[in-house]
Amino acid sequence: MNLISGFSKLSKEEKIDLIVNRFFDASTHVKDKLVDFWDKNPERQKVFDEFSENTLTNFFSPYGVVPNVKINGELFCVPMVTEESSVVAAASKAAKFWCSRGGIKTKVLGTEKVGQVHFFYEGNGENLVRFFKEKKRELLEEVQAMSSNMTKRGGGILSLDLLDKRALRPHYYQLFASFNTCDAMGANFINSILEALGKKFSALLNDDKNMSGKDGKVEVLMGILSNYTPNCLVQASVACPVEKLGDAFPGMDGASFASKFEKAVDIARIDPHRAVTHNKGIFNGIDAVVLATGNDFRAVEAGGHAYAARDGCYRGLTHCQIKENIFMYTLKVPLSLGTVGGLTKLHPMAEFSLRLLKHPSASKLMEVTAAMGLVQNFAALRSLVTVGIQKGHMKMHLLNILGQLGAREEEKRKMIEIFSTRAVSFKGVREEMGKIRKLQ
Ligand code: MEV
Repeated sequence: MNLISGFSKLSKEEKIDLIVNRFFDASTHVKDKLVDFWDKNPERQKVFDEFSENTLTNFFSPYGVVPNVKINGELFCVPMVTEESSVVAAASKAAKFWCSRGGIKTKVLGTEKVGQVHFFYEGNGENLVRFFKEKKRELLEEVQAMSSNMTKRGGGILSLDLLDKRALRPHYYQLFASFNTCDAMGANFINSILEALGKKFSALLNDDKNMSGKDGKVEVLMGILSNYTPNCLVQASVACPVEKLGDAFPGMDGASFASKFEKAVDIARIDPHRAVTHNKGIFNGIDAVVLATGNDFRAVEAGGHAYAARDGCYRGLTHCQIKENIFMYTLKVPLSLGTVGGLTKLHPMAEFSLRLLKHPSASKLMEVTAAMGLVQNFAALRSLVTVGIQKGHMKMHLLNILGQLGAREEEKRKMIEIFSTRAVSFKGVREEMGKIRKLQ
């Protein structure tokens, strides 16, 4: 098959025609389907088209909300975008459960973002350290204009250091910078500053005859933020007397539930296979809020998983303590989020989410997001150590299948009853639907 060239230069209609003609049978009406998912409002569609390159249409995901999320005494209704059927239901149940037990307590432990200029210098290392010290002010002055708006808002560059990385690779150094980006996630701000610092540092070194030349070759390789932000950290926790967990699961007393729960959390701390799945459950909650608010879930995931492995072993991000009859459950996770800039205004639903959350600061959004990670994970563990995860999942699976089969409300009711004691499979559900429809 020939390569497609010049695709990005085509109009949207031309792109669709090319894809449809090349990859589909003309009788399949794929073009209608793609066009069918365009926004009815052409202006809004244009906004979406421009988020990315080579856009053909939109890809819908459910937008749901979790009401009754009590954080530090304040009630929130939290938006979540997820395609995983049990996530919103589970988070809603767990959030409500904790509402009557003091709610969720959250605290931002730091908001520092970081970035690096990676470079190679073949000259004398001690001279380089001295040179950096002498030129640091000039370097910072170089980016003063770029950071003036951020500085006015109370943020900007917090520190700039030279790190000697020659133990890892010959001639390798970094300029390591930390930032306060206020309510912005700050990726563009940080990357622009790092690139400018890299250019200036390279120019300063090359302009200095004692530092450059045959023995002082400089190569500035790249300037880029790091998505590992262990000091942009938030904590969410829930706590209650053990006996108040008595109704976590019918028929199980609070102490037995707490003990099983604690074991499950500990296993996620000591076993990486379990830890990954445990953390996946946490990110079920976190990512859904990150997406709903127009933030970058890849950055959040990458940073979170790196944090989970910070001592050299990948571990669960939560911690459970049962002490003096008090059950306490805590999540600590780095979350680099923004509530201004990026998609937060451009995406109409992201903008709506932020309005629903009462225009939070980035720190407040960190707290809300961590709270959802915690309740999501609490819900998953509660099911896992009691009834098992499949019961709830299967009910949602059944509803999905019924949706696909176009079941009416009355049919749904009957099928839920039939499958309350049976394993759910597409074939089984279709057969039972067939029987019900024949009877009608
Ligand atoms: C499924 O999306 C998430 C869980 O596997 C999380 C967990 O096992 O803790 C249920």
